[in-house]
This record gives sequence, structure tokens and C-alpha cells, in this order.
Amino acid sequence: MKFGYFDDEHREYVITTPKTPLPWINYLGCNEFFSLISNTCGGYSFYKDAKLLRLTRYRYNDMPYDCNGKYFYIKEGDKVWNPGWKPMQTDLDSYECRHGIGYSRFTGSLNGLKAQVLSFVPVNDTCEISRLTLTNETSVEKTFSVFSYVEWCLWNADDDMKNFQRNLSTGEVEVVGSTIFHKTEYRERRNHYAIYSVNAPITAFDTSRDNFIGAYHSQMNPEAVLNGKLTNSMASGWSPIAAHQLDVTLKAGESKDFIFVLGYVENPENNKWESHNVINKKPANALLAKFDTNEKVDAAFAELNAYWDGLLSKYTVESANDKVNRMVNIWNQYQCMVTFNMSRSASYYESGIGRGMGFRDSCQDLLGFVHLIPDRARQRIIDIASTQFQDGSAYHQYQLLTKKGNSDIGSGFNDDPLWLIAGTSAYIRETGDMTILDQMVPFDNDESVAQPLMEHLKRSFDYIVNHRGPHNLPLIGRADWNDCLNLNCHSTQPGESFQTFGPSEGPVAESVFIGGMFVKYGLEYADLCDLQGKTEEAARARREVEEMRKVLLSDAGWDGKWFVRAYDSYGNKVGSHECEEGQIYIEPQGFCVLAGVGVETGEAKQALDSVKERLDTDYGIMILQPAYTVYHEELGEVSSYPPGYKENAGIFCHNNPWVSIAETVVGRGDRAFEVYRKTCPAYTEEISEIHRTEPYIYCQMVAGRDAKFHGEGKNSWLTGTAAWTFVNISQYILGVYPTHKGLSVDPCIPADFGDFKVTRQFREGTYFIDVKQTGSTQKGVKELTVDGQKVDGHIIPYEKGKKEYHVQVVLG
Ligand code: BGC
Repeated sequence: MKFGYFDDEHREYVITTPKTPLPWINYLGCNEFFSLISNTCGGYSFYKDAKLLRLTRYRYNDMPYDCNGKYFYIKEGDKVWNPGWKPMQTDLDSYECRHGIGYSRFTGSLNGLKAQVLSFVPVNDTCEISRLTLTNETSVEKTFSVFSYVEWCLWNADDDMKNFQRNLSTGEVEVVGSTIFHKTEYRERRNHYAIYSVNAPITAFDTSRDNFIGAYHSQMNPEAVLNGKLTNSMASGWSPIAAHQLDVTLKAGESKDFIFVLGYVENPENNKWESHNVINKKPANALLAKFDTNEKVDAAFAELNAYWDGLLSKYTVESANDKVNRMVNIWNQYQCMVTFNMSRSASYYESGIGRGMGFRDSCQDLLGFVHLIPDRARQRIIDIASTQFQDGSAYHQYQLLTKKGNSDIGSGFNDDPLWLIAGTSAYIRETGDMTILDQMVPFDNDESVAQPLMEHLKRSFDYIVNHRGPHNLPLIGRADWNDCLNLNCHSTQPGESFQTFGPSEGPVAESVFIGGMFVKYGLEYADLCDLQGKTEEAARARREVEEMRKVLLSDAGWDGKWFVRAYDSYGNKVGSHECEEGQIYIEPQGFCVLAGVGVETGEAKQALDSVKERLDTDYGIMILQPAYTVYHEELGEVSSYPPGYKENAGIFCHNNPWVSIAETVVGRGDRAFEVYRKTCPAYTEEISEIHRTEPYIYCQMVAGRDAKFHGEGKNSWLTGTAAWTFVNISQYILGVYPTHKGLSVDPCIPADFGDFKVTRQFREGTYFIDVKQTGSTQKGVKELTVDGQKVDGHIIPYEKGKKEYHVQVVLG
């Protein structure tokens, strides 16, 4: 069952009922100012950091769900309604929400009055624009009132929901004309305030929540709105809000626009005040002047669309499969940009006050956006590497605002170092920019011990070499990619963090998965060494990788039909047929095979066959089987979840593409695509009533076979799934993969996929790639020509400065 449809021409998902299974949200903002916005106008805004500089208040765990946002109430006679249906939930004659790329558009109508809201954040300004267009679709004049409403957050979103003894006394505002200024804490240590304004004279306003909502009411029936009259209240402590009242008359057929601007404004420290305790409003007025007419808003909206046109034209596909085209050309890349901006901080499932930037998460996200914004990817790599320790380990998380590592979580996640190699290698393959390796980068943000980035990569590599356990496999530390496999934790008390309790590393617990990563990224490190002329170091790295490959294929790593997952702190196998529960895990199967381990000797296919046989479901591949039904203290959080959820046998979408990529490595295009398809939003759209999360983007987890709600998605938007599925479909299935020598084209497609075309920006050139599938060939390039010239192999030689490449590829 569907709750809307894709409008590919406009790059929009059109939601046709407000009663979606969960709020279906969108992100506004490209640089510094961001908003989350649901299909019923819920959500919140922040500047740069969702925790520290939150502009508007949102209540997670709210009831009903998703009841704070940027709302417009329309009161015509006794009827009060909202263009996005919530929060009044008045039955509307029509409702539509179009989530587009960096904007959302809502249309509601009742009794011949149509209200349309276009919300977006301009590319380079620190504000959100909501243009409200009201149209009288009847043949008689209409008079009605419009009320706006936002609730301010007192900046630090964490403190805002905890520190009531202080916060209920600090709220302050100013009002001048149609602009409401939120200036809580401005008198002391802040030099910023927020504004909410409309480009028309107002009848009245409110800034006190109690006056607007009323003590015994809620957003669903605000007293002042029901009374048809705001009260010009000036907030003093308690909960400041911003609400405008506009009294509107529309002739038959007439339409009027009102431009609302919610903005973040900063003043220089020495120019904060206009007069005693009156804030300097000059920058606010300058910001408002940029968007005070329809023409200016249209121009800003056109600029936003052009910005996205530019990004989304870097990789496009034309195939016979609409769903693939739609995901590749629009939504998957869009989600990759959102994960670039948000990491795991702010979604409807990440509160914006919890996690900072994850080391491994950010490195993997980069794989999905490096082709879109290489310069910003470069900076991101430097920021991430600056939080590495001298021994090669790393803070597991850092704050984007300060760029410092978070000491509360610390280090000891032993896969982290290798992800830095993965991200850097992807950046250099994409851009050819070797200078990044020479850039001096501090350790733990201490400039006095800075070393070239290449030295950081060496220490990443050596961290694994120097931290091996009894089987010569990498020690796992606190956890590897699977944050919940906490083999040194042994937690028995509620409240202890599985991620930080116990020693950061034990001498016994090992990870086969990190071994697979070491093969993959150790070889990429060796390639970088070669490019830098460090042939001895390259040879050393390859020797180490070969050693690891042997261990993985020995009894220590190979269980007979699949790869072992790990060894616990007692030296017992995890993810082996010897175990009672948790006999097979997905991660080492995907990663070892995509790294090429066992491809020649048969283990690779066998491992993937075991995945299909034991872990596959209609909705994707589960992380492990059988699910843990009891808590295993020696395994940690993984066994804390009820069977079928999260890491305990859920379908963790992130690692499904590893299996799909692995299938392309062994040349099985049908199966690679089957795996891709099962978690692909454009396909799961059809089962939205089961899947429940947004049908245009990936979610982190789908409940596994053991769960009561098998097939139900959770934690949408901020997941490494976005990057990995894009890598999978664009680089492995469609097969256009950046190498140091040039673009490689080596697709692995289903037997019935047909011919397709890819247009790809790569360095200074645009590549027009035409792929012909002869018969039902799944993999294998028979012939490749570049501008009419035959080329051996499947790499298009890169020519510096060349602008266009016309490439014909024949599979067969
Ligand atoms: C974390 C990832 C981790 C994954 C699996 C996510 O919540 O952000 O870093 O790899 O869970 O445990």
C-alpha cells in the first residue's frame, strides 16, 4: 500500500494523505542553517549544531507524536485548520505534501480557500523561508485570519529539556513591527539571537506560550487562535514563542503571498546593542530585506534548485528500470548529502543532542558524497584525521562545532583506523589530489605533533598490525563496525554503557570482520604507498595483507561454510556452527568477499550461498541467525535486543550492500541486484504499510524474521546505508568505479537489465558511457572504446585536462 507517489520530473515525493504510518520528513538547508520538516509541518531548526544552537523547540517522545513545528493556523468563521493538517487535524477538502530536494511544499484547502506553503533554506543564508500563498477559489469575497506559530528553544537543546529551575526564568524577546526577536541569554554570553518575521503589517502578535496556547489547551486547540485574537503578550521567562496574526480579505479568485522568515543572526561582540539592553537589529533587518518580495524569494528558490541541479548531474543513469534511475539520480544521492550534513546527529530518531560525528560513520558517509563535493570531503578527512591519536587509534566521535574528539566515549573501536584509509583512498581515486597526503595534520588536535596525512594512514594500518590476538586476527577492542558486539565489556548492571564499560581492549577478543577490512583497505593503503614512490612500504603492507588473508582462510577464520565472526574474551568462537545462537553473521561474509578473500579458492561463493540460505528474507538480509534469545554477558549489547531487532538479527540495511557488492565480485549480477532491490526504497514503497518509514530514503534497520513486526523499518535517514548503497549501485552494479588510473567500467547486472547509459563527472571530464548488454551477460567487458579507440581492459585512461569522453562498452 502506498501513501503517495514519486514525481520524478520534479524530483519530488508526493504524499497524498497526512496520515502516513510515521512522520515522513525532509531536510532543508545546505550549509549552516538546517530544518527538519515533516509531512504535517512538524520539525525544528538549528544553526550548525543541533544540540548547541537549536532555534525552535521539538519534543521527542511527544504525544501525539510530532506536534511541534512551524505552523500556520487559518481561522475562517468557526473553522480553524492548518495547511499541513496538523496540529488541528481538521478534515480538509484537499491535502498534499511534496517533499523535494531541499524544499517542501504543502497544499491544503477547505471551503474554497487554498493555502500553500513553500518552505526552504536559501543556499547561503542563515534562515528558513516559508512562503504562504492563500487563494480564494470561490466566487465570493472571503475574510479570515492567519496565525503563525513557532516555539523557541533556549538554544542548548539538551539543557532546554532538563534545567527548568533556571530556564523558566531566562526567556526574553523584543518585538518591532512584524518581527519577533528571541534574545534569551543574549545579555550575557551569547552574541546571537533568532528572529521570526513576516513581510506584511500584522494585526497582533504573541510571544508568551501561555497566552497563545492557554493553560489548559495545546497546539491542537490554541486558545488565542480559537478566540480569533492574539494578545500582544511579551514573554518574560517561561516559554517564549513567536506568533503573528494577519487579518486577510481575498476577493473572489484572488491570491496573496506572505513571506515568513525564521532566521539566525550574529553580532560582533563589540556591537551587540543598539541601546541599553536593546539588541542591534541591523544584521537582522539586512537579512529580512533579502527576502521581502516574491521576486527575491523566487530568485533564492531558483538558486537552490540550480545548486541541486549541479550536484545531482555529477552521476546520472538512464536505464530501462525507473526505480534504479530514480534512486541513483535523485534520492540516494540526496540522502548521501544529508548524511554529509547531519552525520548521525538530528533526525526523528536521533535527537540532535546525543551523538556527535562518528569517526567510522563519517568516513563511510564520505564514500557516498566525495564525487558530489570533493573540496568539502577533503576538509572532512582532515577534520576526522585530526582526532586520531598518535598510536593510530581514534576518538570514536567528535563535535563538528569544535572539531574536538569526545572524551566521554573515547577510543578503542578497533575498526575506526581503517575507515580513515577507506575515506582517503576514495577521495584520492576520485580527485587525483595526492597533495592531501602531504598535508600536516595534528594528532588529537595538537598541532605540535602534526604529521603528514600519509603518516596518519600508516599509523592506522599499523594499529591493526600491532593489535592482534591469539589467532593473529585483529583485536576487536570495544567493538568493530557492529557497535553492539562488545566482547570485552561484560556488563551486568543496568545503565552501564555497553560502549564504554570495561577495558577498552582485551588481549583475546578478536574480529574476523576487521581482518576482512584489513585486506581491503590494507591493499588500498599499499596502492597509495606506490603512488608516493614508497615501494618498500607498499611491499610490506601487501605482505601483511597476505598474512591476514591466510589467517582468514585458515580454520581460525573459516568455519567450513562461512567466515567466523569473532572470538570472545574467553577465546570462544562467535558466529560459528559451534555456537548455539548467533551461528552466522553477515558482516564478515560481505566484507571478506568484497575484499576478494576466497574468490579463487571457492570460500567466497560458499559464504554468500550460506548468507542466502540462512540470513535472507523478503525484506533484506538479517545480521545474524539464530537470534540471541538470552542475554550473553560475554557478547554485550548485541544480545540485549529482543530477537529480530537492531543488531540482534535485525536487517541492518547498512551491510546489505556489502553482500550485494560481494556478489558482483563473484560475478552474480542477478543475486547482487536481488539484494539491492530488497531494501531499496523505490521498491519498498509498495509495502509502505509494512515498512512504515519514508519510501524515498533508506532507514537503518528493518525488523528481522524473529521480530513481531517483521519488515517494519526504523531509524530513517541518518544511516551509512545511504553511502554504501550508492557505492554499490553506482560503482559495482552499474560498475563505474574511480581508480587512480582513471574510471573503470565493469558492470555486474541482472541477466534482464538491458542496455544503459551513465553520465559521470570525473575530475575535469564528463564521461558519456553507453553500455550494451549482449544476451544475458551479467558481467564481463568484451569491448571498450573511448572516442572510437579500442582500449584493453575496462579502465578508461585518464587524460589531464580532457573535457569529454565518449565511451562504448559491450558486455559479453
Ligand atoms: C552506528 C554505526 C554502527 C552501526 C552498527 C550505528 O548506529 O552509527 O557506527 O556501525 O550502528 O552497530
